[in-house]
Amino acid sequence: MEKKLSIAIDGPAAAGKSTVAKIVAEKLSYIYIDTGAMYRALTYKAIVNHLNLENEDPLLDTLLATEIELLPSENGQFVYLDHRDVTNEIRSSIVTNSVSIVSKHQKVREEMVRRQQAFATEGGVVMDGRDIGTHVLPSAEVKVFLLASVEERAVRRHTENLQKGFPSDLEKLKEEIARRDKIDSEREVAPLKKADDAIEIDTTSLTIPDVVEKIMDLIHERIG
Ligand code: CDP
Ligand code: CDP
Repeated sequence: MEKKLSIAIDGPAAAGKSTVAKIVAEKLSYIYIDTGAMYRALTYKAIVNHLNLENEDPLLDTLLATEIELLPSENGQFVYLDHRDVTNEIRSSIVTNSVSIVSKHQKVREEMVRRQQAFATEGGVVMDGRDIGTHVLPSAEVKVFLLASVEERAVRRHTENLQKGFPSDLEKLKEEIARRDKIDSEREVAPLKKADDAIEIDTTSLTIPDVVEKIMDLIHERIG
């Protein structure tokens, strides 16, 4: 039987990570784990509970008392927080604009990484995030770092919002994406960074099938 690999896909906001990770996982019949959804779920709960997002210990206590489940769905995955479906709530702009504060905290990250690694003990996983190749799955057989210009990424999110019938402001999206990238890249603990052995793919002028094909080629090279 073919060896089941671990595949790490990292990169900045709206680079296309979850879209391509999900397709690659489907092609391989692997599980897909969107680690950003886990940070978003904790952020959502912290906001609902009026926690100060700068205070690490109450956030960690909340996380330790929280069950976050990721279940496959047609459009990616359902996210359950303490058995309640929060798939849509965790994509709200208040969560998006707060999540990078929550994900700065070392103890919160340690617990998240512990849970993420537990999903991957058997291999056969495609995981996307910011620190998968560098910290969560440093031995992943395939590591990809997806990039795209901030303009292109804002346009992608804008198009997605309009398609869903959500209000959207392109200039504001550009600012929010750039601000989140800056916090994620500059934090002390496990910042957004390409792993030394990751393959960088600039997706600015690539379609989704183009990116999937490039990643599948890398996987086939590894499988030999
Ligand atoms: O989908 P999008 O690129 O907007 O973000 P996401 O993948 O849902 O991640 C949301 C946020 O969670 C990021 O901006 C990071 O602050 C944090 N995150 C992280 O710190 N480490 C990860 N492995 C995944 C996400
Ligand atoms: O997970 P991440 O935040 O990196 O990005 P995403 O949510 O997968 O992708 C953001 C948007 O860009 C989605 O609407 C994708 O359909 C779109 N996209 C694209 O237009 N071209 C690509 N090469 C990749 C993604």
